[in-house]
Amino acid sequence: MTALLDTLRQIVGAANVLTHDDPQADLGAWEQDWRKRTRGKALAVVRPGSTEQVAAVVKACAAAKVTLVPQGGNTGLVVGSIPDNTGSQVVLSLQRMSAVRKVDPGNLTITVEAGCVLQNLQTAADNAGFLFPLSLGAEGSCTIGGNLATNAGGTQVVRYGNARELCLGLEVVTAQGEIWEGLSGLRKDNTGYDLRDLFVGSEGTLGIITAATMKLYPKPAAQLTAWAAVPSLEDAVTLLGLAHQQLGAGLTGFEVMAQFALSLVDKHYPQLRTPLWKDTPWCVLLENSDSESEDHARSRFEQLLESALEQGVVTDAVVAENLTQAHNLWHIRESITLAQAEEGLNIKHDISIPVSRIPEFVRHTDAALSAAIPGVRFVNFGHLGDGNLHYNIQAPAEGDAKVFLREQEENVNTIVYDAVQAFDGSISAEHGVGELKRHKLLKHKSPVALGMMRAIKGALDPQNILNPGRVLEV
Ligand code: FAD
Ligand code: MLT
Ligand code: ZN
Repeated sequence: MTALLDTLRQIVGAANVLTHDDPQADLGAWEQDWRKRTRGKALAVVRPGSTEQVAAVVKACAAAKVTLVPQGGNTGLVVGSIPDNTGSQVVLSLQRMSAVRKVDPGNLTITVEAGCVLQNLQTAADNAGFLFPLSLGAEGSCTIGGNLATNAGGTQVVRYGNARELCLGLEVVTAQGEIWEGLSGLRKDNTGYDLRDLFVGSEGTLGIITAATMKLYPKPAAQLTAWAAVPSLEDAVTLLGLAHQQLGAGLTGFEVMAQFALSLVDKHYPQLRTPLWKDTPWCVLLENSDSESEDHARSRFEQLLESALEQGVVTDAVVAENLTQAHNLWHIRESITLAQAEEGLNIKHDISIPVSRIPEFVRHTDAALSAAIPGVRFVNFGHLGDGNLHYNIQAPAEGDAKVFLREQEENVNTIVYDAVQAFDGSISAEHGVGELKRHKLLKHKSPVALGMMRAIKGALDPQNILNPGRVLEV
């Protein structure tokens, strides 16, 4: 391996090849997953600074039969971006490739390198007078390359779609170390198979995304946020229908949060002053973006909430008076993941179910889990507007969470995913498969679909050097 490491140093510079041999180097940030469930050991962390360097690194690794794990911000939640524990894999970090290459206002597009942090992309769009709508709790450290590789969702999908729908072009380094220049920025292109959509959501197993051309949108004239107490999930679904009807394309966010999820935020971050949660089983966070004016936005929003209050689907509500208040409400929602982590190890799900069936799914699955594992706690929240729930499970209050996970995780997942299948849903709406869910795909994805996926992987990466064992079993 010394020869390979020497070659890699020649390609990216010695300072950008980190190994355990260097007593100064701490590889923890690249080897430990965000949830602190798993830690791998890398042969080296390699940090190229250009697409040509990425291509040369891939060629060198392929020649040495060394496998690569692409990594962006390492905020993934399914163990897909860290090396295994053999000490034989190269982590290919895209973090140094973070430039904004071009803004094209006429085409409403922005082209950025894969390691651009999502928040920096949002800021670059804002500075150019536009909106880049992809938004998620990890936006301060996740990268656009990782967002595309996982086809990330987040809180604006109800209006703008997920990462795939925002992407118009990609630049990709293939498993052979070739560069595919696909940064067209075209909204229409029917010249054969859609390679762009194949790489989006492939979790680093088919190619390395080095740059992307993304859609921009006009900034709304006004954006209003409301926090509403709802008596039941059925009522939340009715409120969603009313919001679609009355706000149309103005509905840009619709999140649901169960009382226990909010109680964890209140417990771990009392300074955030979570509103209304004590007196209601569910809260909903709604966002209305308006292209006319603040007054227009406010009157439409108030009409919606009034009709919802009249119908009894909302029992109380607060509308943010200004941007600071709105940010605070979103901050509470986005702190649930962190509060859950503070509470201890947990089991995450990012399932999707047809919106109309979600209340029945939750009733059914809560009952099945409570019967199987008395005392289990439900941290239920998510993107109801997209039919996407984070139906998460916290260990019973008494007892060791580590032991709970070891003994019950598989059982919990089987109960939840069997219910998801019975309700025509998907076991991953936005986080992806990674290593955590790959064995579950065998049960919940059709053999025909799996066969096509294996054929694609075999054709694009016949040596199996890109993120082996993620998405598909080796
Ligand atoms: P990484 O974690 O580094 O990598 C993720 C996967 O993509 C890995 O398989 C990796 O190999 C691959 N990859 C990374 N970069 C590239 C590249 N350039 N080319 C090819 N493959 C690559 N996700 C959501 O969808 N919605 C949410 O609302 C959401 N909220 C979150 C909130 C918090 C607090 C946290 C910690 C995570 C959240 N996530 C959410 C999950 C995570 O942020 C996303 O999956 C994100 O898209 C990962 O980006 P990343 O740059 O950190 O990728
Ligand atoms: C979110 O929407 O906050 C994350 O995707 C959920 C999670 O951490 O499970
Ligand atoms: Zn989410």
